[in-house]
Amino acid sequence: MTVLRIKGKSLPIPGKLIVVEGIDGSGKSTQIRLLEKWLRFNGHHVFLTEWNSSELVREITSKGKKKAKLTPTTFSLLHATDFADRYERNILPLLRAGYFVLADRYIYTAYARDVTRGCSQEWVRKVYSFAIKPDITFYFRTPIEVAINRILNGRPQLKYYEAGMDLNLSKDPYDSYRIFQSRIIDQYESIAESEKFVMIDATLGIEEQQTMMREKVAPLLPKRAPRQSIELKNNARKK
Ligand SMILES: Nc1ncnc2c1ncn2[C@@H]1O[C@H](COP(=O)(O)OP(=O)(O)O)[C@@H](O)[C@H]1O
Ligand SMILES: [Mg+2]
Repeated sequence: MTVLRIKGKSLPIPGKLIVVEGIDGSGKSTQIRLLEKWLRFNGHHVFLTEWNSSELVREITSKGKKKAKLTPTTFSLLHATDFADRYERNILPLLRAGYFVLADRYIYTAYARDVTRGCSQEWVRKVYSFAIKPDITFYFRTPIEVAINRILNGRPQLKYYEAGMDLNLSKDPYDSYRIFQSRIIDQYESIAESEKFVMIDATLGIEEQQTMMREKVAPLLPKRAPRQSIELKNNARKK
């Protein structure tokens, strides 16, 4: 079991943290939702949390984005505030209560994206240093064209920050998006080994990927009493 040390105290963490990372369109949300269903179906307590979903900073983030007023540092800090809010209110308490916490993007999204935007790697790591490391981080490795085709299918408009237009990579949002996403891939790949990413070939079929994920998660599941011993107990009670 993970044990967290805070101010000299040891906090046991009986829950498990499972994270999915990868560029937009790599299939993260599809897979984490299937994993969530499977865990729930098997009777486990599950909580799913998504990047940039806290009510606390929604308004200010959307205001800043609309006016294209965010710098790499303010953008990074808004995401960090969003993360800290979800971390302290949900992620950590539920891990302490023994939940499976599933995170659709975690600190590695900031490591990859904010560094691509020009924040220093050391600074970003320090900002997120309060966060516990996941039990498993699945990384969905995807050729950029595959991910882009999935994303643009039925949604031709790219948003300003989504396309990385703030970085002045190209005047064309699609070119900008391509360059931006491939730089994010480079960042992810550079930390994959040190952060022990479990690589998933995201070009495979949805079910095939899900099977691999379940195989990796299975050893984390609590061991159940064998059925026979439960039956014996019931028989004993009847006597
Ligand atoms: N293995 C796959 N093969 C083909 N299409 C997929 C696959 N996984 C996901 N998709 C589709 O690609 C799109 C993006 O998937 P999504 O899970 O939302 O990615 P992400 O959360 O990484 O941005 C969705 O339309 C989804 O149905
Ligand atoms: Mg998603």
